[in-house]
Amino acid sequence: MPHTCSSLNCTNRFTPETRTRGITFHRFPKDRVMRRKWEKAVRRGGFPSNRSTMLCSEHFRPEDFDRTGQTVRLRAGTVPVCCFKTPDNKAPRMSQTSQKAREPLPVEPPKVEPTPAPIPEPTVDHAYASTPNDLRIKLSEALARVDSLEREKRNARDRERRVRNTVSCLLEDLEVKKILNDELKERLDIYSDLPVHLLSKQSHQYTKEQKDFAVTLHFHGPKAYNYLRESLHINLPHPHTLQKWVSSGQAKPDLNQPTASLKEDASAKYLDVSGGQAAVNENMELSQVNALPYEEFVNIFGNVVEKCPMVAAAVSSQRPFADVDALEAAICDFIDALSNSGKEGILRCHPDLAGRDLQAGTLTRESMSEQANVGFNTLGIEDAYTMSCLNEEYKERFGFPFIICTRMSDKARILQEMRNRVTKGLTEERELAIEEVKKICRLRVRDLVHADAAAQV
Ligand code: GUN
Repeated sequence: MPHTCSSLNCTNRFTPETRTRGITFHRFPKDRVMRRKWEKAVRRGGFPSNRSTMLCSEHFRPEDFDRTGQTVRLRAGTVPVCCFKTPDNKAPRMSQTSQKAREPLPVEPPKVEPTPAPIPEPTVDHAYASTPNDLRIKLSEALARVDSLEREKRNARDRERRVRNTVSCLLEDLEVKKILNDELKERLDIYSDLPVHLLSKQSHQYTKEQKDFAVTLHFHGPKAYNYLRESLHINLPHPHTLQKWVSSGQAKPDLNQPTASLKEDASAKYLDVSGGQAAVNENMELSQVNALPYEEFVNIFGNVVEKCPMVAAAVSSQRPFADVDALEAAICDFIDALSNSGKEGILRCHPDLAGRDLQAGTLTRESMSEQANVGFNTLGIEDAYTMSCLNEEYKERFGFPFIICTRMSDKARILQEMRNRVTKGLTEERELAIEEVKKICRLRVRDLVHADAAAQV
């Protein structure tokens, strides 16, 4: 059983816990005279001390201790300070803080005498020279400082959150991260002052404006949307909710035409291909194809595989082709011989179906006509949004866009295929997509060359 301090009303016990608080325990002296003095000091009538009777350090003055060794000892001749009952039935504490607290306040303000500038003390931490009470004071001061710094930090965070809580701050973040292009920024600028903190998890609490902002951002910048939602933990709803909003007419993405400058840039790029095609509008004879200079061949056939002129460049040297089938076979063989990453590279050159390029008018001529063929250029908002969500889901899974030969399908079947193919494994889906690329390519070749054209070498 641990020893208890013998002083009346002192509850300190000789335990590891009191030791960590810096309280030490001291046996009554062996010397009879001294022991009498101690017994008197504790003022307990007929108090019989024995060899295990102890007093704790709370009943001595700081100067009574010799702290030079590993063990805290009392100096020779030390007598405890009277241990008497206080009105609240507690023994008076003798720690420096307790003593300080008992000191009367100065009646007169102390005279301020000019004193020589103090010599700064070296900043070496002489912690070993401190008393337990000093250490306790230092510790509580340090803890108070930690508390106040924590509070400051919380306040600063709250301030920052308040300032950041408008759409314009989110847009700045996205710009810095380089996931917001000028076109999207322009579309979203009208929402700049929209408070973001009102975005809550319950859909009924979103305002119409917030819903429109969310679906517009998601439609035109799905990456930016996911970044805000998943990395910055902005309370934006799951894309499924967006889809529900759009189909129930609660929200509408901005599908207006983008800025003229963007359209010009893209069509300028496109002219590289269409420039060559002007000469072959009425379909070429295979003999003409075989006779084309290399550059012209690449210009004309550069987009039979979407935005992959290197395919035409690669098969150009295999001319003369005996017939159109031979030309198509050469292209398909080249594609089949590519590595998986090469094939995926070709797939990634394709634009989304009913996607942003269609919106922006930046599709290649071939792609535009194929997508228009199934009415993707006149989709209602709901269908456009459904396509956009399916495209994102598909790209998220495979890393390339959904490709299907639209000219051999229709809108309903394409949507059904998208839902079906998004569940496949990568290997199977990559091959399915490549087969679709080859179908598209064959039709594009036949747009350029007479189908029954045979070589007249
Ligand atoms: N199917 C026919 N044309 C296209 C196209 O341009 N992109 C995609 N993803 N599929 C197509």
